Amino acid sequence: MSLLQIKNLHVEIDGKKILNGLDLTIEKGTVHAIMGPNGSGKSTLAYVLAGKADYEVTEGDVLLDGRSILDMAPDERAAKGLFLAFQYPVEIPGVATMTFLRTAVNAQRKKRGEGEYSTPDFLKKVREAAAKLEIDPDMLKRSVNVGFSGGEKKRAEILQMTMFEPRLAVLDETDSGLDIDALKVVSEGVNRLRSPERAFLVITHYQRLLDHIVPDVVHVMSRGRIVKTGGKELALELEARGYAQYAEAAE
Ligand SMILES: Nc1ncnc2c1ncn2[C@@H]1O[C@H](COP(=O)(O)OP(=O)(O)O)[C@@H](O)[C@H]1O
Ligand SMILES: [Mg+2]
Repeated sequence: MSLLQIKNLHVEIDGKKILNGLDLTIEKGTVHAIMGPNGSGKSTLAYVLAGKADYEVTEGDVLLDGRSILDMAPDERAAKGLFLAFQYPVEIPGVATMTFLRTAVNAQRKKRGEGEYSTPDFLKKVREAAAKLEIDPDMLKRSVNVGFSGGEKKRAEILQMTMFEPRLAVLDETDSGLDIDALKVVSEGVNRLRSPERAFLVITHYQRLLDHIVPDVVHVMSRGRIVKTGGKELALELEARGYAQYAEAAE
């Protein structure tokens, strides 16, 4: 059974149609990339998968392990193994990053009927993961994302992903605002988590990220639909020729 199946998904925001019959199937163990021009609906897809309010699904379905997730609350989806790294990570003033991680990870484990981590076990795990991502341990004492640089926010997202051990991780423009060194750290963080049991959906406007996180499948999105699917060479073709040729395909 496929890990994720999106069937004929139609989504509106405030009566405006954003996704128009999107189909996408992801098998476990694979990395899929979605590329597309700004405004094509990439972030909307990520938000709908996460279960963000205000997005109305008017048609179609999203199945995780063959079960629809559309009626599940965001935390329930997370407990089922869905993880989203957002284009614009949210700041949570007054909540230390370490506290946030421990509370969230333990809440998910509890929902899955797994035991909570003991404090020493958790600290050890976080510190090891943070070190690999070149995150200063002092950063973990600071409020979630508050005053973090763009690169620090993205690394913090990958730290969250590492701790959550998701089955499907969706990364929305994780490369935006990163210099090449930070891009490498973030990509290595993702690549370390690649496994036969886990899949990734990497959303990006640029091909650059895909030099570091090499996808198995590349999709082109235009006007709320997937208009072309291919191998990793499709990303190179897009970089060379641009998206213009696909704009009409979506009409
Ligand atoms: N909250 C919103 N209200 C109204 N329109 C929105 C909202 N969010 C996104 N849109 C519109 O939906 C379209 C797709 O946006 P988005 O999913 O952010 O695209 P992408 O991530 O591919 O750049 C755009 O035309 C955008 O203006
Ligand atoms: Mg976007």
